[in-house]
Amino acid sequence: MTVRKVLKYGTPSLREKSKEVHKISKKIQALIEDLYDTMYATNGVGLAAPQIGENLRVFVIDVGTDPKTMCPITFINPKIIKKEGAIVSNEGCISFPEAYTEVRRYKSVKVKALNEKGKPFVLEVTDGSLLARAIQHEYDHLDGILFIDHCRNRFEADKILTEKGLPPVDAKYLLEEKELEEEIQKNPQPKEEEK
Ligand code: CO
Repeated sequence: MTVRKVLKYGTPSLREKSKEVHKISKKIQALIEDLYDTMYATNGVGLAAPQIGENLRVFVIDVGTDPKTMCPITFINPKIIKKEGAIVSNEGCISFPEAYTEVRRYKSVKVKALNEKGKPFVLEVTDGSLLARAIQHEYDHLDGILFIDHCRNRFEADKILTEKGLPPVDAKYLLEEKELEEEIQKNPQPKEEEK
């Protein structure tokens, strides 16, 4: 049980593709505990293993708002098997302290993964909720993709990153997402605030 150091944006390993987990060993169990400890200590909604320097396909999410409504979910070797709809999400990331910007996300996702005991499960979230968005955000970390790669306004994102003392947006990672953007513009939605 350790609160680990969270790697900040600019650390090269955050851009690496993480490796699959082959066995839920003691080491993996300890990694999962550290992910939860670190996530709760930093008031995050999700945390992926590469953010604490382990390039393995594991992330944890808890969208509960207080200790009474905790709902931790562990995802090992996740695969997003369906995604549809488009929404705007105002996101941040523990690796980007205090920097938030609008990004494009799918409204619904269906993911299959193993839980902390190695048991397979399928989870479908169709309401564009914090959970739906967190799954996409954390899943990306396993492929070296960061939330700013999905930003709707590159210049605004750059400004915020600079203000927070972080490196600027790296154009080579920017995702075009034309179809998502078109769908967002066709179906405007009220803005929402979240972390
Ligand atoms: Co993140």
